[in-house]
Amino acid sequence: MLRKLKLKNLPKHIAIIMDGNGRWAQSQGLPRNFGHKEGISAVERTIDACLKYKIPYLTFFAFSTENWKRSKQEVDGIFDLIRDFLKTKRLDFKERGIKIVTIGDDSAFPQDLQGYLANIKADTENCDNLTVTLAINYGGRADITQAVNKLISKGVKKVSEEDILTSLYTGKTPEPDFVIRTSGEQRISNFLLYQMAYSELYFPKVLWPDFNERHLLKALKVFSSRNRRYGGIK
Ligand code: FPP
Repeated sequence: MLRKLKLKNLPKHIAIIMDGNGRWAQSQGLPRNFGHKEGISAVERTIDACLKYKIPYLTFFAFSTENWKRSKQEVDGIFDLIRDFLKTKRLDFKERGIKIVTIGDDSAFPQDLQGYLANIKADTENCDNLTVTLAINYGGRADITQAVNKLISKGVKKVSEEDILTSLYTGKTPEPDFVIRTSGEQRISNFLLYQMAYSELYFPKVLWPDFNERHLLKALKVFSSRNRRYGGIK
């Protein structure tokens, strides 16, 4: 049985690997992109729930550096969904105090999509109810590599962990204390490698398109019952 939710012990930053869209579509006899489309609805529900439970930071792994290996049709379909999402949510996010930031290298994305991303980031930069990070063309190893190159180009001779942390795409965003991967797969898949050194991990079986507030609440209860020791003793 789930323990009572201790509201004081909620994560500050939830990062999500949204897995299972393809399997969801397949189970309905539909093409894969229908799963991604339903995945966007799950993104919206999760944003609403995080606002409700006052979680200040939320990150979605929207497109990985490895996702280019998928068919052009699937990749273009994901871009269309992200494009529509950014267009329809721009005003709504600003009004609800939702700040959008991105991590990853979007320079390989279609020009207009880069523009929509730049616009929503500029429009919401002063919002402070919830920061939603979209990881796009993101890979954990690519992130560490660009951070090291950034430091080298500054002429740094010796680096500290703090230097690396602040040079990562995530910059001053707090490290995720809770990483959720849906669909039952138990892998990190080159997500926030450096940043999740002490994250609590959670792998619910639900496929991402089915993820809703009830699943989030269950996840929060699991997190709140964990005993975080950071290598020490409690
Ligand atoms: C993994 O499921 C999902 C993806 C690779 C892409 C998910 C992207 C979106 C839902 C768009 C997100 C957009 C925003 C704005 C956050 P899969 O296709 O690997 O599923 P499978 O393992 O069942 O095949």
